[in-house]
Amino acid sequence: MTEVGVALIGYKFMGRAHSNAYRQVGPFMSPGLLPCLKVLCGRDRQAVEETARAFGWEETATDWREVVTRPDIDLVDICTPGDSHTEIAIAAAKAGKAILCEKPLANTLAAAGSMAAAVQEAGVLNMVCHNYRRAPAVMLAKQIIDNGDLGEIRHYRGTYLQDWIIDPKLPLLWRFQKEKAGSGALGDLASHSIDLARFLVGEIEETSGTTETFIRERPLTDSPTETGPVTVDDAAAALVRFTSGALGTIEATRVGTGRKNYNRFEINGARGSLAFNLERMNELEVYLLSDPPGIRGFRTILATDPDNHPYIGSWWPPGHIIGYEHTFTHTVFDLLEGIDKGVSPQPDFADAVRTQQVMAAWERSAGSKQWEKV
Ligand SMILES: NC(=O)c1ccc[n+]([C@@H]2O[C@H](COP(=O)([O-])OP(=O)(O)OC[C@H]3O[C@@H](n4cnc5c(N)ncnc54)[C@H](O)[C@@H]3O)[C@@H](O)[C@H]2O)c1
Repeated sequence: MTEVGVALIGYKFMGRAHSNAYRQVGPFMSPGLLPCLKVLCGRDRQAVEETARAFGWEETATDWREVVTRPDIDLVDICTPGDSHTEIAIAAAKAGKAILCEKPLANTLAAAGSMAAAVQEAGVLNMVCHNYRRAPAVMLAKQIIDNGDLGEIRHYRGTYLQDWIIDPKLPLLWRFQKEKAGSGALGDLASHSIDLARFLVGEIEETSGTTETFIRERPLTDSPTETGPVTVDDAAAALVRFTSGALGTIEATRVGTGRKNYNRFEINGARGSLAFNLERMNELEVYLLSDPPGIRGFRTILATDPDNHPYIGSWWPPGHIIGYEHTFTHTVFDLLEGIDKGVSPQPDFADAVRTQQVMAAWERSAGSKQWEKV
């Protein structure tokens, strides 16, 4: 195989982000296998055809069931809301296809577990799109921690703040409905912070968490004079304890007025600290006690040098910064390399189940008002 036949389900926000990544990855990153954009699938024929034309997909379909079993499809990429991830992924696994699934893996822990079991039983390659792991500055943070330069890690402070839902007139989209989205800021945003926490610091063993919904009714999408109940959280916050002994806080909100995509973490170790903010994603702040006392302080590393991480060498000369979309291209690059070598890149479904376990414990804790084991 020199080409990977791709079927992408869902053509909107993530459908466009992934389509762009498949188009960019060949010319810029030269993976061993190249993606072939076979079928774009969505329920609205006209809209899916428009997006397919814009991104160069060969064909369109309006029923995912027709595409996941096609012999010319090697990879099924799931960019739909969480309520359809499980059914599509299990069907794709049974058909022997490699799978990339958007986060959070599923709407419930049980559904996520059934997806992990299905890919294991079918022996198919699988990956979950926690794309922020693949920002070069985050990869650099991982290298610094793994080198031991920060010493024992004591604190992880993750905040993921957005404000796109502050207008109470924003309609009752799928993202406000538990049966479609599973949860609100928790699954949408905190899942990324949990994934980064686990990637950088290690497993989380217990949590004391809470959630809040501030705007409890929203206009119906098809009848704006009527309203319906918001059944997910607008915001979520938790204390977490890591198996290593580190202590963490994670906060996610979609009503953080003024904050747009403020996905930040700060990590404090016995010998140093580092901090990352997606809105300044080319930079990593680093503080090292090993620096000479007179000039010790947080320094800002511009992580655009191939010495910082190999991904960045695929793009522009140092200092010529990259953006949000590159995290998806890096994800797709590792996915294609994984298919070439027959190894699921991380985070795979089994890994994402552990993130989902943290979310489930957080929700249990919000109900019990107690610490809950993961
Ligand atoms: N990795 C990230 O940073 C990131 C960012 C945003 C969203 N997401 C995730 O991506 C997924 C999609 O979110 P989005 O923001 O792209 O949503 P969206 O509303 O922009 O797009 C959803 C798409 O799914 C399609 N769809 C819905 N149900 C379908 C079905 N049964 N069959 C076929 N198509 C169907 C819709 O037509 C639409 O094209 C969610 O799981 C979300 O959590 C991830």
